[in-house]
Amino acid sequence: MTHVHVVHAHPSARGFTREVLDAFLGGLADAGHTHTLSDLDAMGFRSELTRDEYERESGRRADAPVPDDIAAEQARLAVADVWVFVYPVWWADCPARLKGWFDRVWTVGFAYKPAGIAVARKALVLCTAGYTVAELDASGCYEAMRTVMLTDRIGARARTSEFVVLGGSAGSGEEWATLRDRHLARAAELARSL
Ligand SMILES: Cc1cc2nc3c(=O)[nH]c(=O)nc-3n(C[C@H](O)[C@H](O)[C@H](O)COP(=O)(O)O)c2cc1C
Repeated sequence: MTHVHVVHAHPSARGFTREVLDAFLGGLADAGHTHTLSDLDAMGFRSELTRDEYERESGRRADAPVPDDIAAEQARLAVADVWVFVYPVWWADCPARLKGWFDRVWTVGFAYKPAGIAVARKALVLCTAGYTVAELDASGCYEAMRTVMLTDRIGARARTSEFVVLGGSAGSGEEWATLRDRHLARAAELARSL
């Protein structure tokens, strides 16, 4: 059995990203994996650092406490074998709320120096995109997004990591319907195989 912490960022429960999240959670249940979910928009997660948080992270007030919402998020991550991020690609990156999640949750002492770097067995980034993977590849955005997420934000904090783009959601008709079904089946399979 694997215990998974899922971080989801999207303001609406009606789009394709939600379908991907639901397929993924269904796959976890099929396999008997347990999970916790941080639905950042539903939680009203604050993405901006306060001045106190900034001063802690910049070392000016290194002994300042970590805010309660961040300590709670770190506790969910600390007991999970696998971390999963489900979000739509917006302007070649994650939504601002998830970017702010990294700004605030990756604190000194939890995500980097001096010690105690959090380590998961695996980190899986699962994002939806309007462009196809081929289009994102041709523009250079695929590699840019992968590098930022896996090399920088995940880095050595997970022993393995995987970046999956479920692209082409700007499509329509029969072609998109077929692709959508394939993407949802893939999301469920990724969950089952953790
Ligand atoms: C503000 C905004 C910015 C977007 N930027 C991109 C982008 O840079 N690249 C891309 O492939 N798709 C982009 N899209 C399309 C979304 O990735 C796509 O609509 C989403 O993955 C579909 O999921 P949803 O139905 O849950 O919103 C953007 C959409 C929005 C609303």
